[in-house]
Amino acid sequence: MRKKIVAGNWKMNNDLAQTETFLVDFKKQVFPEDVVVMIAPPFTNLSHAFTSMREHPVSIAAQNMHQNDEGAFTGEVSAKMLKSVGVNTVILGHSERRAYFNEDSQLLAEKVNTALKNELTIIFCIGEELEDRKSENHFNLIKTQLTEGLFHVSSEAWEHIIIAYEPVWAIGTGETASPEQAQEMHLFIRKTIEEKYSKAIADKVSILYGGSVKPNNAVEIFSQTDVDGGLIGGAALKVDSFMDIVNAFE
Ligand code: G3P
Repeated sequence: MRKKIVAGNWKMNNDLAQTETFLVDFKKQVFPEDVVVMIAPPFTNLSHAFTSMREHPVSIAAQNMHQNDEGAFTGEVSAKMLKSVGVNTVILGHSERRAYFNEDSQLLAEKVNTALKNELTIIFCIGEELEDRKSENHFNLIKTQLTEGLFHVSSEAWEHIIIAYEPVWAIGTGETASPEQAQEMHLFIRKTIEEKYSKAIADKVSILYGGSVKPNNAVEIFSQTDVDGGLIGGAALKVDSFMDIVNAFE
């Protein structure tokens, strides 16, 4: 049985006071036992979030990490530092990192190796641009992102890997992929993993959808056979909307 997962990617939102306001309300929530719930605050709020939520069934994730464990990399944060403040999961390859910070597959492969070496679970993000889809190149692009960024890992590593399919044209736009589009790509991703590794590994990997998931579309998206949850941006910044999505599995 695959894990159902809903992760909130806060991106560059919420200072310490806003984080505390969120957490005070979040701690009052009743969380479904069969859903893995994660929040990914900015680096500055990770320790506070971990301390606040440590008695609650919520995991704390980071939005990025450096590929080295330490050294002269001003402004960067290492996997070891993340683990030291209670982080057990890291988002890698988000389209905004790929686009704004020039993170290519070679760099992401290095980050994947470092995260695995430090026993972090990885949410590995992949997704096409609108022009890729319009030119019907989206399947090739997704296969390339998987092959070049992730398919060097061992079979055993897949215990610690979650995939997030985030069509770039749906991120922050309100333009959500249709449930059918999400299912079609999730199935393709699963079959691609099966071809490279095995059906057993492919069937066990949680594949999350991200891109304008909201309370009013989450139930239909999450009901798709190969959608195992969501990576949520804007709707994760409010407790009510985030919990509506956490509870969107039927
Ligand atoms: O990582 C999740 C994010 O990219 C989706 O953002 O605001 O479209 O839910 P949003």
